[in-house]
Amino acid sequence: MTIEVRNSIALVTGANRGIGKAVTVGLLEAGVVKVYTAVRNLSSVNDLINKYGDRVVPVEFDLTRKETSDAAATIATDVNLVVSNAGVVKLSTPLDADAVESMKYQMEGNVYPLINLAQAFGPILKANGGGAFVQMNSLASIKNFLPFTGYSASKAASYSVTQGLREAWADQGTQVISVIAGPIKTDMSDAAGMSEGAPPPSVVSDGILAALKSGDFFVYPDQVAQGVAKVYESYATNVLEIPR
Ligand SMILES: NC(=O)c1ccc[n+]([C@@H]2O[C@H](COP(=O)([O-])OP(=O)(O)OC[C@H]3O[C@@H](n4cnc5c(N)ncnc54)[C@H](OP(=O)(O)O)[C@@H]3O)[C@@H](O)[C@H]2O)c1
Repeated sequence: MTIEVRNSIALVTGANRGIGKAVTVGLLEAGVVKVYTAVRNLSSVNDLINKYGDRVVPVEFDLTRKETSDAAATIATDVNLVVSNAGVVKLSTPLDADAVESMKYQMEGNVYPLINLAQAFGPILKANGGGAFVQMNSLASIKNFLPFTGYSASKAASYSVTQGLREAWADQGTQVISVIAGPIKTDMSDAAGMSEGAPPPSVVSDGILAALKSGDFFVYPDQVAQGVAKVYESYATNVLEIPR
């Protein structure tokens, strides 16, 4: 299952900065017809509108408000590519006093919104020929990083949901892509103290564009993730192929 990026119509959550912005620019430069930029603050994509005109269509999206996913799906009925990118991070080890609160915050920011978005847009992707759905997962999806335990747990959950979507949508021909990224230079990795030496977010955009062509499920966009993939990918692929 692959899609033709040129002439596609995309929706990208968190398109105003970081990885979401780079993916939006990458898609526009690759020839998509338009991108619905799903953001909290509509004016935060004004620079993209100034550059790409009416190929950029802002729609309201808040990870914590399911109704914004549902409302976006009543507007963006022509999309065949959804990039679920927006997310949150908060430091917490399992032994911190606020460990449970922290994990709840990250489940509510990184997992339930993925399910809401998938439920809102799955029927649209089906109606538009199957299309593709991309989820921004992380090396933290497959390995716990102690200071980021709540984040790691939420990204492990989002990765699990991504696998479920892949199976659930196989019959409707939707290509599902799981991006397993290491540190990428953005506000998020800066705040986490992980951005030194990290590559720019354009590497994620390049990886997604390549997978949309190849039909791959996994994208390992950066050198750190590619190093892990050397030991992980064959294991993961074999596990994913275990029959139900
Ligand atoms: N950077 C990394 O090293 C890295 C590595 C692996 C995976 N990831 C994942 O990649 C994705 C993007 O990360 P990033 O590094 O680009 O982060 P970022 O620079 O911090 O950007 C986060 C994006 O999410 C949006 N967002 C945050 N809370 C939101 C909410 N409640 N409702 C709607 N949008 C919200 C932000 O919008 P506002 O501007 O309105 O806040 C912003 O567009 C995340 O899912 C992250 O977990 C990042």
